[in-house]
Amino acid sequence: MGCCKCKTTKPFHSVKGLWVNLEKDQLFCLLGPNGAGKTTTISCLTGITPITGGDALIYGHSVRSSVGMSNIRRMIGVCPQFDILWDALTANEHLELFASIKGLPPATIKSVAEESLARVKLSQAANVRAGSYSGGMKRRLSVAIALIGDPKLVFLDEPTTGMDPITRRHVWDIIEEAKKGRAIVLTTHSMEEADILSDRIAIMAKGKLRCIGTSIRLKSKFGTGYIANVNFSGNGHTQSPNISSNTEVPVNPNIETVKWFFKERLDVDPKEESRTFLTFVIPHQKEPLLTRFFGELQDREGEFGISDIQLGLTTLEEVFLNIAKQAELESSTAEGTLVTLNMSSGASIQIPKGARFVGIPGTETEEHPRGIMVEVYWDQDDNGSLCISGHSDEIPVPVNVELRRPPSLSRRASMGRGGPVGYIIDPNQVP
Ligand SMILES: Nc1ncnc2c1ncn2[C@@H]1O[C@H](COP(=O)(O)OP(=O)(O)OP(=O)(O)O)[C@@H](O)[C@H]1O
Ligand SMILES: [Mg+2]
Repeated sequence: MGCCKCKTTKPFHSVKGLWVNLEKDQLFCLLGPNGAGKTTTISCLTGITPITGGDALIYGHSVRSSVGMSNIRRMIGVCPQFDILWDALTANEHLELFASIKGLPPATIKSVAEESLARVKLSQAANVRAGSYSGGMKRRLSVAIALIGDPKLVFLDEPTTGMDPITRRHVWDIIEEAKKGRAIVLTTHSMEEADILSDRIAIMAKGKLRCIGTSIRLKSKFGTGYIANVNFSGNGHTQSPNISSNTEVPVNPNIETVKWFFKERLDVDPKEESRTFLTFVIPHQKEPLLTRFFGELQDREGEFGISDIQLGLTTLEEVFLNIAKQAELESSTAEGTLVTLNMSSGASIQIPKGARFVGIPGTETEEHPRGIMVEVYWDQDDNGSLCISGHSDEIPVPVNVELRRPPSLSRRASMGRGGPVGYIIDPNQVP
């Protein structure tokens, strides 16, 4: 399925090449950064935005045919990202209206509306105009509208946005209950919500599907590895001899020993540490060592003053961030925009945004005939755009590595204001 939103200028694909199947009795969760194409996908599947390429079948009906779409409309329920409610109508009137649009028998409409409102805890406000509702109340009414009339496929676009934690948990129960007998598509920016409710998760970024699977599978495939939390009983604090008495920082010798133990056996440093706990991220490659390692750590718990060890897979949030960063790297590299890399040596070079390994022009010497290269570290700023966070030590360019000029670079541009333009090195060629 694809959706191209611009026809007068260069085509912009909000969603491109999306292949998914949605199963009955399951909740399919679409995750992705802002602008990834989640709402557009839902709009295409519900007939709001026409598809410009491909097709989607809902219970055998095509979203591209008007007959198909009118059949589809009868069997779907939608909670849009932004509430579409009438300020002058009460919750009861909203539900009665949608129940009759869905074709429910007139005799049942009143009781169905009452039941729906009770389910989302809006009974007390049933006869109050929606215009005076709080944000969370409006969302609950939208969820009730989406579920009325027993739809076979329900789309919930960020249904719990703006809800307090208690209401959110209650709505999670409603969604979990609603899975029976139907397929649900949910989008959310809450990783906790995705983890709790989803049977399958897809992550989109920049209009494309990046990965799909169960939460556990995504964590093990796209997460960095395992997270180990080690808690200490709090005994054995001593004062560091190097620290003056007015800036007392107690040092727990056990913590230092455990840090050494992790470093020596697994070559990992703590990601977070305090006076009572240590958190380590252990890469997947270390998996073969883990059984023995944690066996020994457990045996020596008393000796190290450990009160508790927890080992788990990395979080869904980490998977999300990794995928979003990867998508940003790919699209920046494809754009070929040049940015300035200020080297720790004081020199500056221009490099394509997103490039990982770059060769530094003019560093060829007799000792290093192919010159010097660095690995560039990228981070994302508050808007999700890539920015340089640092670079590795300078190392000689290996013999068999190919040095390429960035594509679409004119001769004149190869020596710009930010210094000479670096060579791109394919990461697959770097040993
Ligand atoms: N009507 C439109 N005309 C042109 N571009 C649009 C239109 N609607 C959405 N877009 C673009 O399509 C892309 C996908 O938008 P979409 O609303 O589907 O993102 P999203 O994943 O739902 O994001 P969010 O998490 O912020 O809700 C964005 O780049 C957006 O600017
Ligand atoms: Mg959206």
